[in-house]
Amino acid sequence: MKIEEQLLTHLFNCRRVDLYAGKRTLTDEQMQVFSHMKSRLSQGEPLQYILGAVDFMGISLCVDERVLIPRPETEELVVCAIDLLKQGNGSQIRYVLDLGTGSGNIAIAIAKNVLNSFVTTVDISPAAIDLATLNAHENKLNDKIRFICQDMKIFLKEEIFRNKYDLVISNPPYIPTAQIEQLPCDVKKEPFIALDGGEDGLNFYREIISAAHLLLEDNGCLLLEIGEYQAEDIKKIVEASGKYQECSFRKDNAGKQRITIIKR
Ligand SMILES: C[S@@+](CC[C@H](N)C(=O)[O-])C[C@H]1O[C@@H](n2cnc3c(N)ncnc32)[C@H](O)[C@@H]1O
Repeated sequence: MKIEEQLLTHLFNCRRVDLYAGKRTLTDEQMQVFSHMKSRLSQGEPLQYILGAVDFMGISLCVDERVLIPRPETEELVVCAIDLLKQGNGSQIRYVLDLGTGSGNIAIAIAKNVLNSFVTTVDISPAAIDLATLNAHENKLNDKIRFICQDMKIFLKEEIFRNKYDLVISNPPYIPTAQIEQLPCDVKKEPFIALDGGEDGLNFYREIISAAHLLLEDNGCLLLEIGEYQAEDIKKIVEASGKYQECSFRKDNAGKQRITIIKR
């Protein structure tokens, strides 16, 4: 759908085909909103922030400048998580930890698709946790997800004395700091803390990989979304930790290694 059509279907709350089926005219008020939306677009604001919503695995989620816009690559990560969680005994609760939850997309899609799951989410941003909580509530999944607003580095240290998980999953910030300035204008409108992976982009992977084995059940898995060129570095970090049995990669639909599965 063209961008203008997306704005209009949003304004009229109709399908694309309905735009052309009858003669529709914008009221003065709708015209003002439409002009405002177009001016936000021309200033580089992402369409999803303007519409205020995104579809993630068939689930409608509210999004705005408080959170990263969920990407299709992350849907593939979640499909992989669902496959892993559905293996084994279907009657036992499967405990999942989602680090850097943002809009709550990963947690919500898992909670919705894996009936016997319970997801703990962590994000350092109170604004993101507010929106993720709202999204869980809107999707009637708030009793299957708990939201924790904390720096994951601190959470990971404290959690090893408390709980174990079947799956730890994360799409952490992974852009090297110096590259953020070169990103397209609309991406730069997303929260800096959702993008910034430190000098080499790998800070969060180091933190998560060094702690996750202590949080995983014996057959547990760590599932990470990674940047296009990070597979080799991730493999080195996993091997250097000496804590995991296996580290493999899955290609996304575009043939890029964007998912890593690390077995405890
Ligand atoms: C790349 S975004 C991913 C958001 C969402 N999970 C997704 O897949 O669209 C990374 C998230 O990590 C959060 N974050 C950044 N630094 C963090 C930290 N030190 N502790 C916890 N969360 C952090 C950001 O606020 C952001 O929501």
